[in-house]
Amino acid sequence: MSKTPTGDFSLINIGQLVTNNSQLGEGQLGIINNAAISIVDGKVAWVGQTSNVDKSLQIVDANGDCVIPGFVDSHSHIIFAGDRSNEFAARMAGIPYSAGGIKVTTAATRAASEQELKINAQRLIAEMHESGTTTIEIKSGYGLDVETEKRSVKVASELTVEVTFLGAHVVATEFADNPDAYVDLVAGPMLDACLPYSKWIDVFCDKGAFTTSQTKKILEAGIANGLKPRVHLNQLEQGDAVGMAIELDCASADHLTYLTDGDIDALAKSNTVAGLVPACEFSTRSPFYPRARDLLDAGSVVSLSPDCNPGSSYSSNMPFCIALAVREMHMTVDESLYAATMGGAKALRRNDVGHLTVGANADLVLLNAPTYVHFAYRPGVPLIKTTWKDGNVVFAKGASA
Ligand code: NIG
Ligand code: FE
Repeated sequence: MSKTPTGDFSLINIGQLVTNNSQLGEGQLGIINNAAISIVDGKVAWVGQTSNVDKSLQIVDANGDCVIPGFVDSHSHIIFAGDRSNEFAARMAGIPYSAGGIKVTTAATRAASEQELKINAQRLIAEMHESGTTTIEIKSGYGLDVETEKRSVKVASELTVEVTFLGAHVVATEFADNPDAYVDLVAGPMLDACLPYSKWIDVFCDKGAFTTSQTKKILEAGIANGLKPRVHLNQLEQGDAVGMAIELDCASADHLTYLTDGDIDALAKSNTVAGLVPACEFSTRSPFYPRARDLLDAGSVVSLSPDCNPGSSYSSNMPFCIALAVREMHMTVDESLYAATMGGAKALRRNDVGHLTVGANADLVLLNAPTYVHFAYRPGVPLIKTTWKDGNVVFAKGASA
């Protein structure tokens, strides 16, 4: 049993509290030093100086360490079975990544029971909690038939409210000779079966997956049925779909490894978040990373996510993405932390997570470090002491949460 409080409590002696509200503290991260925060009924009830805290609540002492909002992971593919470590090893020996590997996971996923899929996803969610993530979007996309896609979104809906139907991950093998018939299946019977469990619709619009016009057709079918669109774009080649994504008001366009100056200008003027997934460039040994610096300088909102999936990026770890964003994409540490929290919230169009303003969900993380800068300064080191979601402990170092 954890000794760390769950329920109503005040966390005091926080050396550095990141609120992500510039009205509450310094800079874009809204930093308060010597801070305290009170949690009541799973929400943030008060934020201020430790000297002014309500001492009637149960007290937790942060001992001068840093507290941040829980990470918001707006892009994960954790409903799958099987393992592709051989593919990874071969890639590191020179065989390039391609979208075709998705079909290997599809065969294993079709063979897995609902319970097996759920246990595997829960294992990955536990890893996410351990690395500070409290909000998780989960996609289907390894079923590629009506029954397995439905099973996938059903399992996802038992684990999160942010469920994404990605039947259009790649054309199923059975439709290799007639991809448009697969598009009709996804936009018709498969969509109908997955609708009750889904909030979002996504398409992998890229080389070896779906064309811009196929993508538009599928996203429009989802929108017509009340789903909200998001999209995978420009991971493997420079495509032409950024304008379409913006026109359909996609909440995020993700990957964006390839971008023109025109794409960057258009994204900066839009409501579509640039969803960057640098662990994918790392794990696919991409020759370059997305132009995060140019996106931010143009005024685009950027999110960060590990893109957890068994093929292109088998990491669930947001601190690793922060380290990569700083080192490889020239984002500042502050920009990276903001992207991993508020950026993700914006990519999911949520205003109750990603920040620690009064009334927000009590999703917060106590570090074993005086500052969040350590995520980039001490890469690979587990720095999370306690993770709370809705005021409840979901991870406590050295204790079973
Ligand atoms: O986000 N890009 C498309 N989908 C996944 C990769 C899926 C796989 O290789 O299994 C991604 O990188
Ligand atoms: Fe992805």
